[in-house]
Amino acid sequence: MKELICPLCSQFLIVNEQGLACANRHQFDRAKEGYFNLLPVHHKNSREPGDAKQQLAARRAFLTAGYFAPLLNELKKIIDPNSGSLLDIGCGEGYFTRGLAEHCKHADIYGIDIAKAGIRLAAKNRPSQTTYVVASSHLLPLADTSMDVIVRIYAPSKDEELFRVLKPDGKLFIVTPGDRHLIELRKRIYKEIKPHPQPKVPHGFKDLSHIEVSFPLSVPAGELTNALLEMTPFAWKLSSDLQVKLAGEGLVDLAHFQISTYEKVSLD
Ligand SMILES: C[S@@+](CC[C@H](N)C(=O)[O-])C[C@H]1O[C@@H](n2cnc3c(N)ncnc32)[C@H](O)[C@@H]1O
Ligand SMILES: [Zn+2]
Repeated sequence: MKELICPLCSQFLIVNEQGLACANRHQFDRAKEGYFNLLPVHHKNSREPGDAKQQLAARRAFLTAGYFAPLLNELKKIIDPNSGSLLDIGCGEGYFTRGLAEHCKHADIYGIDIAKAGIRLAAKNRPSQTTYVVASSHLLPLADTSMDVIVRIYAPSKDEELFRVLKPDGKLFIVTPGDRHLIELRKRIYKEIKPHPQPKVPHGFKDLSHIEVSFPLSVPAGELTNALLEMTPFAWKLSSDLQVKLAGEGLVDLAHFQISTYEKVSLD
């Protein structure tokens, strides 16, 4: 936890009996599930920012059933298992954070998300090397140049914060949906399928590689198809009739992601 900083004054946070505190005596208590809330009240733009509890529960059900394991495996192939520190931005209920913690056995792992409901789920039964924090990706409570690896899977971030927190020789991995992601489902919802915008190179970084990952998905009718519909933002546009119909049919579709790897542009 040595890389955490105070969201109010940026001093290092030190562990004490109740949780964490900085030299300016800003105190952040440890929740009973073991996570920390480092989101200052004035940075909350709603009472419960981030994904809702129901969506996070759906993500947990779908992801723990292993449907996106090929994406996790691809990340494991390109992330150095000897990394000393890794941050998962917008970690949700922690499926990828957990998988990457198993892969980087000696790393200090941080999962941050603005949704308390996600962090609460993620923090239960976490391994001791993993710290979960409620925080915004726009104000990361981590020290300058403290992370070897930053992973961002379908979550927002701020370029300046990515640049500040990553070590000079660190790597940034951004996962975005590919053009054929859930194409069959999108055909049922939209008249016209628009391509996803190409990921932009974050300011201060340069491209190292782009990998396409695609694999078939065959989801049985009922709970798991419902979970996929629940966690997929464009599926919220479904009429309830079509949702019931799809859940009754199950889904045969394609998962398609792009993993972009970046490193910092050196300033010398
Ligand atoms: C589509 S989910 C992806 C979750 C996780 N990466 C996964 O793949 O299972 C996006 C996540 O970003 C979080 N999020 C949204 N805005 C955020 C912000 N400003 N800072 C941190 N997390 C944010 C949401 O709460 C949600 O958990
Ligand atoms: Zn402080």
